[in-house]
Amino acid sequence: MSEDLPEASAPTGVTPELIMQLGTSFMATRHLIAAAEVGVFEALGEDGLDLDALAARIAIPRRTARICADAMVALGLLERDGPLYRNSPVADAFLSGRGRGDLRPFLRYLDVSYRAWAEFTGAIRAGQGSGFITGLDPEAQRVFSAGVESATAGSAVALAESYDFGQHRRLLDLGGGTGSFLIRILSRHPALEGGLFELPHVVALARENLKAQTSDRRVRFYEGDLLRDQLPTGYDAFLLANVVHVFTPEHNRDLLRRVHASAPTGARLLLVDFWTNAIHTQPVSSLP
Ligand SMILES: C[S@@+](CC[C@H](N)C(=O)[O-])C[C@H]1O[C@@H](n2cnc3c(N)ncnc32)[C@H](O)[C@@H]1O
Repeated sequence: MSEDLPEASAPTGVTPELIMQLGTSFMATRHLIAAAEVGVFEALGEDGLDLDALAARIAIPRRTARICADAMVALGLLERDGPLYRNSPVADAFLSGRGRGDLRPFLRYLDVSYRAWAEFTGAIRAGQGSGFITGLDPEAQRVFSAGVESATAGSAVALAESYDFGQHRRLLDLGGGTGSFLIRILSRHPALEGGLFELPHVVALARENLKAQTSDRRVRFYEGDLLRDQLPTGYDAFLLANVVHVFTPEHNRDLLRRVHASAPTGARLLLVDFWTNAIHTQPVSSLP
């Protein structure tokens, strides 16, 4: 190196790779959402399809089908064998609609919620949340609720299987969304009764969902606002699943005080959420 050139400021071996990767990862997300939305993963079975067949099956131009499919190969969601594209194991399990889980509703939910992320810098500057959850039109609410249900399905199963609900008579699910936790818990615990407290338009979705998924009539519905309204009594277990992260610390303290006031001695409060370590730096999936 010439002695006239200024010394590079970055220590040797430090590259901008991480920044480039993080800065462009939203493009990968957009590719994934688009591929799922146009039906790439449903279209591809185990035998695979070539580009012409894939483009015809999902009814998009061959050029953009190629862009879409190759991006998914690059990201590990498709595999390419000569001219044939097929789902990778993870895509087949969670995005094909034929696997053991279905995360397509979660991707649709992200698509809707990223509209609010466009205002994120402003929210950080102002020290406020986006208000995203409370301002949804009915169609966006449906997409939101189905997405949350698909993303939290694993926790719902884990809670239903691991916690001893046999010690309780009545469980109140606060901010219970579509009722997906209650459906799984009540089906494993036939003596338990359930209550679901939600905003009125979400209660309507939960009623619909419970009717479609089970003939069980052990759930009572309460329309209300967790931040204002009186909570029902007569429950000896309370569930707050993925609700605490929606509210401010002050609102949570007030809510927990009111839950405590409505609970009999010995009642249990079950908290399910995206918990972080004590210094809020891990796991990365809990940070948003
Ligand atoms: C992230 S979702 C979690 C849903 C469900 N518990 C789950 O884990 O799948 C948060 C839920 O809180 C509800 N919620 C938000 N603010 C509320 C309020 N002020 N009163 C009642 N429910 C509220 C939303 O309608 C939404 O269904």
